[in-house]
Amino acid sequence: MTHTTHEFDRFEDVRAALADPALVPERPAAADGPPGASVAWLRATVARFSHGEPHRRRRALVEAELARLAPESLRQAAAVVPGEDIRFTVVRTLAAALGMPRPAAVAEAVIAVAGVYFGGEDAAADEAVARLVRWPAAPTEVGPGSTEDGPGSTQVGPGSTQVGPGSPQVGPGCTSTEVGPGSTEVGPGCTSAEPVSTQDGPGSTQLAPGCPSLELVSTQVVPGTPSAGSEPTAEPVPVPFDAAPESAAGRIGLLVQACEATAALVETAAGDERLPLSRVLRERPPVRTMRRVAAGATCVAGREIAEGDVVLLDLAAANRAHPVPLTFGAPPRICPGRAHALALADGLLRRPLTPFARLHRRAHPLLLPNAWDYASAAALAEQGFAAVGTTSLGVAASAGLPDGAAATAEATMSLARRLGRGRFLFTVDAEGGFSDDVAEVAALARALYEAGAAGINLEDGRPDGTLAPMELHAAKIAAVKQVAPALFINARTDTHWASSHEDETATRLALYEQFGADGVFVPGLSDPAAIAELISALVVPLNILYAPGGPTLAELASLGVRRVSLGSLLYRRALAAAVTAATDIRDGRPTDPAAPSYAEVQALAYARQDRDPAAAPE
Ligand code: HEM
Repeated sequence: MTHTTHEFDRFEDVRAALADPALVPERPAAADGPPGASVAWLRATVARFSHGEPHRRRRALVEAELARLAPESLRQAAAVVPGEDIRFTVVRTLAAALGMPRPAAVAEAVIAVAGVYFGGEDAAADEAVARLVRWPAAPTEVGPGSTEDGPGSTQVGPGSTQVGPGSPQVGPGCTSTEVGPGSTEVGPGCTSAEPVSTQDGPGSTQLAPGCPSLELVSTQVVPGTPSAGSEPTAEPVPVPFDAAPESAAGRIGLLVQACEATAALVETAAGDERLPLSRVLRERPPVRTMRRVAAGATCVAGREIAEGDVVLLDLAAANRAHPVPLTFGAPPRICPGRAHALALADGLLRRPLTPFARLHRRAHPLLLPNAWDYASAAALAEQGFAAVGTTSLGVAASAGLPDGAAATAEATMSLARRLGRGRFLFTVDAEGGFSDDVAEVAALARALYEAGAAGINLEDGRPDGTLAPMELHAAKIAAVKQVAPALFINARTDTHWASSHEDETATRLALYEQFGADGVFVPGLSDPAAIAELISALVVPLNILYAPGGPTLAELASLGVRRVSLGSLLYRRALAAAVTAATDIRDGRPTDPAAPSYAEVQALAYARQDRDPAAAPE
């Protein structure tokens, strides 16, 4: 029977095809190799080429592995070895962070596998898989960047376990006997009598759910044994393998996926160090096309697709016509390593990161309290906040002016000059730049930077409740980046404050980051699912406005939010406290005596007046 090949290149069609459960990844045709010792076995056991329940289970294993790795540690580790082959650094860094012994040897083996992972056969790659399977992950994480062995090292130490070609056996305690390719295995203690396939192709090995005791065992290898294919030099001694086959395959699979795609991203971005990574990803995506096969009949963009038909998805073309890139795929298979890939790329590219930008990369989000004058900023800095922002409402109201009406350029600038005398990092809320003239906005930003600001907030909301055209806002961002590259631009979209604009949020944020925003901000957004969805499509950190009664700081952190601002909340609380104190005294109610003393406020006003050298860009 002949099958048709369907090609899609429109953004909506490609996205619909990626979300269609009937369209599944095509596993490259190749003879099934021995379990645990071939690229064919690897493909048959990883998330990448599986679908349905096995895909969900295997993907969860990969996500759990990746969750152990802090992207910022990867960035730092990848930055320390200049001149090394990019693929090698990517895999070695990840392998070390995963706690795998001999990260350099792992990298060599993974690079060999990557050459044929998406198609082809190669005996050396099969041998590399066998080697990788027998190098288990250590139980605890070791320091990233560890180079405990040199490139090319393949030595297997005493006590190492090996799964030789064709040699998987059922572990001690499991009742079934030795199995070969295509066999089933079920261990005791497995709760289900019906084994569930761990593979979705023919020739599968099988594993019952809840059967952690199922272990691959093999022969012990003597020191110096060069490869998995060698004859054992002693009687086979069963040695438990450290993890179930799917875990081992998942770990190898994620290293293989990381290898080529991350290197391609870095190589493309290296040509122009000012080009934001988000732009590189959209315009020159490392993964340009994806292939699917129809597991059942379906319909995409009105086109009937029969079972067995092939579907080709042109990500590069889809991206060209839409600002939100599909470069990392789309749910349910969106790349689980995207944050790690971006961190590794940042490290390898060694782009400078200011101290303020670094605050957005820590394990916990930057909590940014917003001040309205020098004393409030200094008081917050005294309490250990790593940086302070300003609130445009507080600045405008203090000056007797309306907020958001481009009326406070002067008041904002003079506050920035005052804050610039302090020894703390600060970022300035500059409304929409107080102008729609792009050159004027750039000049203001440059002046703020020269006054000592580490960052600027630029919003697209207008006083009449409408939004500025997104192209105009993007142009302002690009112009600011041009004149003050080290100034952290937090691009705010007011889609959740302006009526009927919520569906523009992802598009606006994508455009803003591609024009150079270092972070993006969506005040008024508090729905956890919507926050998570936005983060999955963003390259730069997302800032959320804290709302009493909304998600807590810990909840926002777990969603991946990197900065939480307090906006005008503190200013409004301070006003309320002042009014309450006055009315309490007037009306004879007891008052709260807690307040800084006269001397303390005096001291605060002159505190931290030396510029902190750490605030200068790297
Ligand atoms: C640390 C680096 C990386 C790791 C660990 C990683 C890991 C993975 C894994 C395990 C999958 C399979 C997910 C599944 O099928 O459910 C995957 C999918 C994918 N990755 Fe990555 N990846 C990395 C870097 C990249 C980069 C740099 C790109 C390109 C920009 C990329 C693009 C993709 C795409 C498009 C898919 C979806 C494939 C599909 O739907 O068929 N990955 N990645």
